[in-house]
Amino acid sequence: MKEILIATGNAHKVEEFKTMLEPLGFCVKSLKDIKEKIEIHETGKTFEENSMIKAMTLHQALGCAVMADDSGLEVDALDNAPGVYSARFMGEDTSYDIKNQYIIDAVQGKERGAQFVCVISYVEKDGKATSYKGIVRGEINDCILGNKGFGYDPIFYYPPYGTTLANVSEEMKNAVSHRGIALRKLVDYLKEQNENDSCCTL
Ligand code: IMP
Repeated sequence: MKEILIATGNAHKVEEFKTMLEPLGFCVKSLKDIKEKIEIHETGKTFEENSMIKAMTLHQALGCAVMADDSGLEVDALDNAPGVYSARFMGEDTSYDIKNQYIIDAVQGKERGAQFVCVISYVEKDGKATSYKGIVRGEINDCILGNKGFGYDPIFYYPPYGTTLANVSEEMKNAVSHRGIALRKLVDYLKEQNENDSCCTL
């Protein structure tokens, strides 16, 4: 079975990647599975830069094929904030109930459009690097709704579902999400390559 190392320790993201990659025959490993403590500095100003920094840092440290994602919420009425600062928005330790309520209040009486963006970067064993982008458009809901998913899901209203992404199953979210779209693009590439370079024995 092919193993893929994912440059994240976020349990929710790992779960989403597993749900999408395991049926395709991939064994998903994450930062929690490696012994080495590798520091990653997300100093980029774009999702592309940050995902590549994460993937390259691990590839250079471990020498294996690595995929990394960088993602976040862009709110139209807030000039695309919080964007690449989504995790750090209002401080890493601030609860998402507080962050989400802040955003609801900030768009009050304004245009409610928003999007989740995800860029997955993949660095192969030989150092070849590619990136895959996914975007899902929606609206900021007028209240916090749902308890599935994570982060900003409870305020991300997805019109075709008529509810927030925190109020649908993981499968339904993955079918339309920014991460799902980006990952399916990478999977298409992996299938095309059909190469052993995506293996990484940890
Ligand atoms: P990253 O780990 O640097 O990519 O930060 C991603 C941050 O963006 C997360 O901590 C969340 O705040 C937000 N985010 C990204 N994807 C999602 C999602 O699918 N649902 C809700 N929030 C998300």
